[in-house]
Amino acid sequence: MSVDLRKQLREDQERIEAYLSHCFDGRTPYADLYDAMEYSLLSGGKRLRPVLTLEVCRLCGGDVEQALPFACAVECIHTYSLIHDDLPCMDDDDLRRGRPTNHKVYGQAMALLAGDALLTAAFELIAQHGLELDDPRRGLAVADCLGRAAGARGMVGGQVLDMAGEDRSLSAAEVEELQRLKTGALITAAAEMGCLLAGGTEEDLAAVRQYARNLGLAFQIRDDILDVEGDEAVLGKSVGSDARRGKSTFVTLKGVEKCEQLVEELTEKAKESLRGRFENSEFLCWLADQLVRREK
Ligand code: IPE
Ligand code: IPE
Ligand code: MG
Ligand code: MG
Ligand code: MG
Repeated sequence: MSVDLRKQLREDQERIEAYLSHCFDGRTPYADLYDAMEYSLLSGGKRLRPVLTLEVCRLCGGDVEQALPFACAVECIHTYSLIHDDLPCMDDDDLRRGRPTNHKVYGQAMALLAGDALLTAAFELIAQHGLELDDPRRGLAVADCLGRAAGARGMVGGQVLDMAGEDRSLSAAEVEELQRLKTGALITAAAEMGCLLAGGTEEDLAAVRQYARNLGLAFQIRDDILDVEGDEAVLGKSVGSDARRGKSTFVTLKGVEKCEQLVEELTEKAKESLRGRFENSEFLCWLADQLVRREK
């Protein structure tokens, strides 16, 4: 059974790669800028967020192909956030997705601008493809959802808390809030967008949100664990970055063992949220399980 689920994941990832690889075709006037954008966008990555958009759309009875540009818009935002996160003024990291970070190759100014352009491109994609939907109001709902999650009340706000927490001990509640915003918000929006595009009910949306919130928190706790005991060659990004920057994380608060237990508990909660509501949540439950012991 899990062979089929693995195949389904691979097919989603291939769809996403194919779409992203042609997203900026033919845009030559500022060739260096597009090189810098594609350098990070097309350098691998698990594509978790766009996979969530596609699979939640499928779960709620929507058209996966139609959801593809919206899913890729989320990946553009995620990639921009990684480029900026690695800058010397933020986490100052040299390795990302197995390659030198964007600013190491293109310089800080171009890395900043490549991030800006990816962020803007995401909303351009949503506007263009939103207009093609049978009900373009769904496109607006998606833009609203993603805008909230990516901005000051979501990911950007979380990054502000993360930076403000350097060299300062944060409480468990503060760490949870910053993780919920910096990582959870975008993961949750990715899933919600799938439901909105499929025209799911309020109850569907609530269940999907519950799943994604728990999954997102588990995902970031696992990220914190990997920053301590991951293998840089497998992970494709620097290990020990959090300690070097004096960050408070779940691991500094609770230790690795307790964190591993928390990841499992949150994953169970995530799966429960879907099981009570949908007939075929097998893929998304399996995906949550895959992330518990991920090594990258
Ligand atoms: C890394 O995200 C940054 C976090 C929010 C933890 P991912 O672990 O999804 O990174 P990629 O996209 O696979 O490179
Ligand atoms: C980054 O969190 C979250 C965003 C990019 C918004 P981290 O700083 O922990 O991500 P990594 O570990 O560098 O991938
Ligand atoms: Mg960071
Ligand atoms: Mg970082
Ligand atoms: Mg990290």
